[in-house]
Amino acid sequence: MDKIIIRGGQQLSGSVRISGSKNSALPILAATLLTKECCVIQRVPDLSDVHYMLQILAHLGAEVERASGTVTVQAERVNTVAPYEIVRKMRASVCVLGPLLGREREATVSLPGGCVIGDRPIDLHLRGFAGLGAAVRVHAGNVKVFAPELHGTSISLKGKSGTTVLGTDNVMMAAVLAEGITVIEDAAREPEVVDLANFLQKMGAKIEGAGTSRIVIEGVKELHGAEHEVIPDRIEAGTFLIAGAIAGKAVTVNRVRADHLTAVTDALRDCGSILNGSNGTLSICANGDRKPLDLKTQPYPGFPTDMQAQMCALLSTVAGESSVTETIFPQRFMHVSELKRMGAAIELDGSTARIRGVGGLSGAPVMASDLRASAALVLAGLIADGMTEINRVYHIDRGYEMIDEKLIDLGAQIERVKV
Ligand code: EPU
Repeated sequence: MDKIIIRGGQQLSGSVRISGSKNSALPILAATLLTKECCVIQRVPDLSDVHYMLQILAHLGAEVERASGTVTVQAERVNTVAPYEIVRKMRASVCVLGPLLGREREATVSLPGGCVIGDRPIDLHLRGFAGLGAAVRVHAGNVKVFAPELHGTSISLKGKSGTTVLGTDNVMMAAVLAEGITVIEDAAREPEVVDLANFLQKMGAKIEGAGTSRIVIEGVKELHGAEHEVIPDRIEAGTFLIAGAIAGKAVTVNRVRADHLTAVTDALRDCGSILNGSNGTLSICANGDRKPLDLKTQPYPGFPTDMQAQMCALLSTVAGESSVTETIFPQRFMHVSELKRMGAAIELDGSTARIRGVGGLSGAPVMASDLRASAALVLAGLIADGMTEINRVYHIDRGYEMIDEKLIDLGAQIERVKV
C-alpha cells in the first residue's frame, strides 16, 4: 500500500496532458465482447480499474493485448459467467452484463455490493433487461439474466435518484443486438454514454439520440470489429483545473473537451478564477478575488458528483460561506472528516456540506476513502501548511493516471512512498 506525501505551499504552473476517460474506457472495453472480431481501443488510461476490466475480459475468454495506451481485444468465443473473485474488485464490472446478454442471450455476474459512496443498486439495469424480454434471477450473490430472444421495447431508466449512467450503457449494449427498435427514455446524457454509442456505431450498431434523454436503437444481427479513441477524462481535467484554482499561478490542461466541462468551468469562474481555452486546451489562473459558492451536483450537463469532493477542498479555502449539495450519491461525503482534520470548517447538514472558508489548511496524516475523496485530499495537501501524508493511495490509482508525476511536473512537491 503506497502513500503519497505532499509538502504544501508550492505554486503550480505549466501544462498537463489529460488521459483518456476511465468512465468511457470501462464500458467501451466491455462492448468489445459484442463481436467475434478484433477491436482496437486507443487512449486507454493505465489505471487499476482498467486492469480489472481487462482481467474480466480475459476471464470471459477474450484475447487481450495492451501496448501503452492501445488495447486490442478479440473475443472469438466467450463464456458468460463473471465470478465474484474478479467482479468484486470493481463495481463497473457490471457493464459486461449488457454485451453478454446481447451476444449470448445470457450472463451471470456477481452482484456488486454497496461502496463507500453509498448504496449502489442495479435495479434500473435489470428493469431494462427485463423490458427487452430477459428473465432476471438473483441467487447466491449472483445475478443471472437470460432470454431465448431479445425484443426491442420502450424502457424508462428513471429511478428515485434520476437516471443511471452504466444502466444506460448496459441496456444500450444489449439492445444493439435485440430484434426491432428499442427506445430508452430518461437515458443518461453523459459524454461517456455518447462515446460508447459512437464506438457501437463504428461496430455497425444503429443508434440515434445518444447525448439526449431519448436514445433510439434499431437492433442488428451482428456487430463487427472497430477502432476507437476514448474521449479525454473530464473529471481528471476538472481536478487539475481545481489544482490550478487552489494552488496555481497558471495551469493549462491539454487534450481536453472544454464542452464537456462547462458546469465545472462555470463554477470555477463564479468562484473567481479566470479561464481561457482554445483547440483542446483550457487554462486557469486564480485572480485573487475568490468568492464562495452554492453548488448542487446534477446529472450531466449539471455539476458532476465526481467533482464534488474536489470542489469541497477548494471552497474550504475560499473566505465566506459556501454550500455543496449532493443529489446523486447523498452520502458521498467521506472526504469531509479528513478535510476537517486538515483544518477545514465544514458541517454536514443531510446531503449538504456547509463550508466556512478558512485562512489556511494544515498538513496532516489522512486516509483516502474513495477515488474522488482521495483527489480532494491531494488538492488540500497542495495548499496546506507543512506535510500531508495520504494513506491508502490505491484508491487514487483507480482513476488518476500518474497523478503524482503530473503534479510534480507542475511544480508540486510530492513523493510516493512504498509501505
Ligand atoms: N441507481 C439506482 N438504480 C440503479 C442504478 C443507479 O437507484 O440501477 C442510483 C444510484 O444509487 C445513484 C444514481 O442512481 O444514486 C446514479 O447512479 P449511476 O448508475 O448513474 O452511477 P454509475 O453508472 O454506477 C457512474 C460512474 C460514477 C459516477 C456516476 C454518476 C462509471 C464507471 N462510474 O456510476 O463514477 O459517479 O456514474 O455520474 O462510469 C467515479 O468515477 O469516481 C465514479 C464513482
